[in-house]
Amino acid sequence: MSVHSEIKKITTETLRKMKFDKEKITMLTAYDFTTAKMVDAGGVDSILIGDSAANVMAGFETTLPITLDQMIYHTQCVVRGVERALVVADLPFGTYQSNPEKALESAVRMMKEGGAHAVKIEGGKEIEESIRRIINAGIPVCGHLGLTPQSIYQFGTYKVRAKEDAEAEKLISDCKLLEELGCFAVVLEKIPAALAKRASESISIPTIGIGAGQDCDGQVLVYQDMVGMNQGFSPKFLRRYLDLYSEITGAVSQYVKDVKSADFPNEKESY
Ligand code: KIV
Repeated sequence: MSVHSEIKKITTETLRKMKFDKEKITMLTAYDFTTAKMVDAGGVDSILIGDSAANVMAGFETTLPITLDQMIYHTQCVVRGVERALVVADLPFGTYQSNPEKALESAVRMMKEGGAHAVKIEGGKEIEESIRRIINAGIPVCGHLGLTPQSIYQFGTYKVRAKEDAEAEKLISDCKLLEELGCFAVVLEKIPAALAKRASESISIPTIGIGAGQDCDGQVLVYQDMVGMNQGFSPKFLRRYLDLYSEITGAVSQYVKDVKSADFPNEKESY
């Protein structure tokens, strides 16, 4: 029997059951093969190829510039490194909002060429038809509400969303709509913890929070943030598990010293 057949793969159904069993769901981002391998080996339930790749991998200020081809490339790299986790890929800005046909085409490309197991898209009522179309084609969809970074120019700021009643009520009704449409989960980003709790209790599909408190059914973080590679980004919701920025710059400067002083390579490191 091969090792592969012994691994119980996580599916959208597994996540639904985890919510039912009150077992928290874990999700982290990855954009490349090596990271995906480590994140999968660490035991996360789901890996997200977020369009935050635009910020973290490409250095853009917003997520808007990344293209579908680039997201497909990142997804292909991640899929090759994953044995267990459910692989969810973001559809980038402009690839699903304009019409349901285009949304379906984009989602099909992400599944067929990228090899994703599911797609994530931002928004509620406004993109209802796109979500319906994608799900009708048999593609699992994860929603994303609250601070939806693809709308940053509409929001004007990355501050907490839905603090006012009207936006909070819309978020609850969007959550219910996403459930009704057949989404398998919904990411809730940067909203008050009490609202995230209410949202999580009002739907049977899992909520996965980022900056949305402890009552979501799961949590997601950007990998580079949680391992401390990204020193300039310190929102309140972020817990850093390592200080890799210092570790890596320290290792690089030691390497520079060793080469300059002809300490590296030594005899044992030579043929
Ligand atoms: O793009 C991303 O990384 C995301 C997560 C922050 C949820 O959408």
